[in-house]
Amino acid sequence: MLRNDWEEVYSANTFRNKNQYPSEEIISFMMRNYGELKNKSSIKVLDMGCGWGNNLKFLKDQGFSGTGIDISKTAIQNCISLGYDAKVCDFGKLTFHNNSFDVVFDRQAIQHNSIKNIKKTIQEVERVLKKDGSFYSIMVSEANYDIYTTYMTESGIREILSDFNIISIDKHIKTSDNQSVKSTTLLIHAKKPF
Ligand SMILES: C[S@@+](CC[C@H](N)C(=O)[O-])C[C@H]1O[C@@H](n2cnc3c(N)ncnc32)[C@H](O)[C@@H]1O
Repeated sequence: MLRNDWEEVYSANTFRNKNQYPSEEIISFMMRNYGELKNKSSIKVLDMGCGWGNNLKFLKDQGFSGTGIDISKTAIQNCISLGYDAKVCDFGKLTFHNNSFDVVFDRQAIQHNSIKNIKKTIQEVERVLKKDGSFYSIMVSEANYDIYTTYMTESGIREILSDFNIISIDKHIKTSDNQSVKSTTLLIHAKKPF
């Protein structure tokens, strides 16, 4: 089952999904690859499904040129009110020129779409990435609870990224609640070829 009610989620008067703190994996990826750069503002980064702006905060604090997109107007209004560059945009039709970004990342956002839309999204990501630019995606691939998502297998990911050079696919296997709740997350780094 997929979730189509992101606007409802963000306009509800609760903390749920309104992440304020950046993802550890996004921090680690960006700092591993660009942490030493003196001029981080030269790195243009697109946050796909930026939600409440948690990862845009990290980009801004570090001096990267970050832009966020999301389907939820309420989420984007929140990002803008916090001073981040963000706009309402659907993954299937990115309103950016070809070869615009050095990095496009996705923290558990693209997967919340049908496989048909995920494939279209990957084409759009490739279009807006600069040559040799990086796509970094974090996707839950298995879980023993319903997170309203499309679960991608490693081979499925290799197939939809066949036009990219895959640099790495790692797995984080996590349990909680005394091991009763289980999930596997794939961390995917792929580059648009030169
Ligand atoms: C699980 S939330 C993750 C939010 C954020 N990346 C984070 O780390 O907290 C998924 C986000 O993807 C957005 N989203 C899902 N499908 C989308 C689409 N087709 N176009 C744009 N945004 C979409 C949702 O509105 C939501 O903000």
